[in-house]
Amino acid sequence: MMFTGKHVLLIITGGIAAYKMPQLVRLFIKQGAQVKVVITENAKNFVTVKTLATVSQDVVYDDHYISENVAELTHLDLPMWADFVVIAPATADIIAKLANGFADNLATTLVLACNKPVYIFPAMNDVMYAQHVTQRNLYSLNESGLTVFSPETGPLAEGYSGKGRLPEPATIIETVYAAFYRYSHPQVLQGKKFIVTAGGTREAIDPVRFIGNRSSGKMGYELARAASLLGANVTLITTQPNFPKGDLKVVTVTTAEQLQAAVEVRYAEVDAVVMAAAPADFRVATPADQKIKKVDGEDELKLTLIKNPDILASLGKKKKQQFLAGFAAETQDLEANAQKKLKHKHLNMIIANNVGGAQGGFDSDENAGKIIFKDGTVKTIAMTSKAEMALTIMTTISERL
Ligand code: CTP
Repeated sequence: MMFTGKHVLLIITGGIAAYKMPQLVRLFIKQGAQVKVVITENAKNFVTVKTLATVSQDVVYDDHYISENVAELTHLDLPMWADFVVIAPATADIIAKLANGFADNLATTLVLACNKPVYIFPAMNDVMYAQHVTQRNLYSLNESGLTVFSPETGPLAEGYSGKGRLPEPATIIETVYAAFYRYSHPQVLQGKKFIVTAGGTREAIDPVRFIGNRSSGKMGYELARAASLLGANVTLITTQPNFPKGDLKVVTVTTAEQLQAAVEVRYAEVDAVVMAAAPADFRVATPADQKIKKVDGEDELKLTLIKNPDILASLGKKKKQQFLAGFAAETQDLEANAQKKLKHKHLNMIIANNVGGAQGGFDSDENAGKIIFKDGTVKTIAMTSKAEMALTIMTTISERL
């Protein structure tokens, strides 16, 4: 879980997107967090206190709470309790107040009294957002060490599209996770450029059919995400782009040849390439231009397959500063087969995983394997989530870059 044992203080201010915040509270709790909610008077026009109290399983803190509990130091206790504060949606009004050090209600006072990370998600009308004064306030919040995220461009409450939308709760969760992870972990890959590849390629038979494999792209995605969480600048080249992008640069490809072209054009300038993709070893020699039809009386269809380039082997041949890591998906003789690939493809490291068993591997959220290095060292990774395994692999790479 992303937020096991973490204390999240969520401040909701008066924008229409406040109606989505019970969902955000739910998602934080689902990921292991405890959530306390602070609400401004204006925000109550958009979401009810009762809903928030129910989903957060706690009282909802507002300005009445302070006047009714005068003996408590709520504005100090809440930031002390929190691991971090999220302000979503953050209106132009609270942004202006915070940028100028106001402390005229519970929300503003507690932020002033807070020395934990504060993550601000502005959401408002596009003109209000673009206004010089709002931008100046956001700039000065950033300068003061608070973290300001950009709103999204999309349909606004006004009925037209513009920049000012609050990201969806799932995106907020991912964004906050990445920001807090980077804040609380050493950035061992800071300044390093990575290419990570992911997913199985699809080689066309005709315009509607293809030869593919069972790689879901999940391990590659987690590796890209892990490198980014550890500070790297990551380009994810993938056949499966439907994961949250975060700070990743994502390039979508379909075939092995496209994958190769996308890697090679960036290869000269990177520090490391991690090939988690499963490129098809063969492609159809001449894919049909039109859909192949059944022919009466013919019970066989012959396809001629030709070899695809071995992308990793060709990178290995022209390797300079790059650290090269590959995967060996095996169903037998795991270590021996992986060692062979490591040598043959001139790799620094190979991650061998058994794809024949019932657990782990394709489509699963879990995986296990062995990291084998050029010098023969072997590190075993017991069955764990792909996210954890990816962090272990990337930390291991950081020790050798
Ligand atoms: N790989 C590649 N280009 C290919 C096939 C594989 O770059 N055409 C990479 C994979 O991304 C992986 C590593 O090579 O990192 C090993 O892939 P795997 O499929 O296990 O091995 P192959 O070399 O294809 O050997 P075989 O299929 O015979 O086991």
